[in-house]
Amino acid sequence: MEDLSLHILDIAENSINAGAKNIEIAIIEDSSKDLLTIEIKDDGKGMDADTIANVTNPFFTTRTTRRVGLGLAFLEEAANSTGGKLRVESELTTGTKVIAEFQLSHIDRKPVGNIADTIVMILAGNPEINLRYYQENNASKFLFDTNDVKKITNEIKINSIEILKFIRQYLEENVNKINK
Ligand SMILES: Nc1ncnc2c1ncn2[C@@H]1O[C@H](COP(=O)(O)OP(=O)(O)O)[C@@H](O)[C@H]1O
Ligand SMILES: [Mg+2]
Repeated sequence: MEDLSLHILDIAENSINAGAKNIEIAIIEDSSKDLLTIEIKDDGKGMDADTIANVTNPFFTTRTTRRVGLGLAFLEEAANSTGGKLRVESELTTGTKVIAEFQLSHIDRKPVGNIADTIVMILAGNPEINLRYYQENNASKFLFDTNDVKKITNEIKINSIEILKFIRQYLEENVNKINK
């Protein structure tokens, strides 16, 4: 996978498969610590101890459609290759938090990529999800919350073409420029 945004899409899909209603994605860029942190938190069904222990093993999956589960293994590999690490915190019935840390300036750190597209893709297929996206660097902070969109669009569904176009444009203006 080329971009971190595609990893984020993959991890958010795990949250949706776990029945999450609320997903929070955060990207924190701290140049003073040379650290890029990505967090994906959900209120899905969570994992038992056995699942947590095996979660980054590529040959472990609880899905039945294919026998390997690679989403978290690939993200861990991407983090490790920069000298960073992956942490998974999860509690049954409460939810899961995935934290990936990267050395920001490392030559092997993948670019963040197109977060606007990733968010639009999640919402297009899962309009009932409440999604919060938070981004911070040493110069600015930005928060996008689908609850705010839902308040102003009332009866228009969040995954209607016009609303998705609006969200994509709004995010492209506010997000991608500070993620280069
Ligand atoms: N957010 C989550 N909530 C609950 N379980 C999860 C979550 N993310 C991952 N898992 C568990 O970890 C396993 C491995 O996930 P992953 O590496 O993405 O592979 P896959 O999704 O292909 O199984 C999943 O099958 C699931 O059991
Ligand atoms: Mg997965």
